[in-house]
Amino acid sequence: EMLEKGGYEHFMLKEIYEQPRSIRDCMRGRIYPQQGKVQLGGLKEYADKLKNVDRIIIVACGTSWHAGLVGEYLIEEYARVPVEVEYASEFRYRNPIISEKDVVIAISQSGETADTMAAIELAKEKGATIFGICNVVGASIPRTTHAGVYTHAGPEIGVASTKAFTAQVSVLTLIAFYIAQQRGTIARNKLIEYLTELNEIPELVEKALKANDHIQSIAAKFKDSRNCLFLGRGSSFPVALEGALKLKEISYIHAEGYPAAEMKHGPIALIDDEMPVVVIATKHSSYEKVISNIQEVKARGGHIIAIVTEGDTEVKGMADYAIEIPQTAEPFVPLLATIPLQLLSYHIAVMRGCNVDQPRNLAKSVTVE
Ligand code: G6P
Repeated sequence: EMLEKGGYEHFMLKEIYEQPRSIRDCMRGRIYPQQGKVQLGGLKEYADKLKNVDRIIIVACGTSWHAGLVGEYLIEEYARVPVEVEYASEFRYRNPIISEKDVVIAISQSGETADTMAAIELAKEKGATIFGICNVVGASIPRTTHAGVYTHAGPEIGVASTKAFTAQVSVLTLIAFYIAQQRGTIARNKLIEYLTELNEIPELVEKALKANDHIQSIAAKFKDSRNCLFLGRGSSFPVALEGALKLKEISYIHAEGYPAAEMKHGPIALIDDEMPVVVIATKHSSYEKVISNIQEVKARGGHIIAIVTEGDTEVKGMADYAIEIPQTAEPFVPLLATIPLQLLSYHIAVMRGCNVDQPRNLAKSVTVE
């Protein structure tokens, strides 16, 4: 087993560190930065369908659902197609309005999740076109969908999903640009610029991983917390949800992810001087807004752990702890901001003596309802 873990103490840590490679594998042969072109062989036959699509519905469970939420931001922003993201378990039981015109994207690491399978069957009966985003080649879901894109993250052993999530987000980024390209909603020079930057993401993930020791020392400060709040806005909101899920899954600390501005509609009541609040505060469109959310937390004695853009001074000056991630264009922030959150949860869980690779009560793949 030690051999399988490649010298790492846990599969989860190994899989976190594999991300520069898994993201690269996921993009290989699919992006052509100099030509400003995205090529997705699996969706080729459906290029026209995507060009004219009126609505996309994403169905998934757990971490894959969080990836779907990131996908919603990206597809709506760049391809200008309305997207709905549904928990497969809810979708299947609520007589959803769906027709032959719809495209449904099912996201599943394992390709075996029972609720996601059932949601696909239902959408298929109603005549929708179904695409899969799966990691396990030849699993049940990729076999039942009409077409799809594999994430190519390699086997994920840790029950808490890490590299599969960033690979799903990578594929959704490619799909957003692919649809944008078909529909002409993105200028060629913009696409060249974005793809050039996307191509560098594996190196930037590598750089983000260098904060590991710093993150470990922050983890030591918060390992005995009983609650933790994760905040983000825009596409960093689903990253906050995923950060909270990781922490609760493996460390058993109660954690919630919230859109930063919604904090004042409830969670703010929980903030006291024992409450760590992890805030994704990178220098992008909602930077100033997030700063005021940080001030609201600070005014109530909460402890801020901020994920900031390299070189930031403003948020750093307010936060109790700051973790830097490299500068990148807005669509790629989820891929980088996820990394420190994975490491933070990992170290906290290890310090609490938890079984990080096999947390209690959880299964890697939920094949029964
Ligand atoms: C389980 C796993 C999660 C995963 C979810 C959906 O809860 O523990 O890590 O996100 O199932 O699984 P899927 O294979 O469909 O992505």
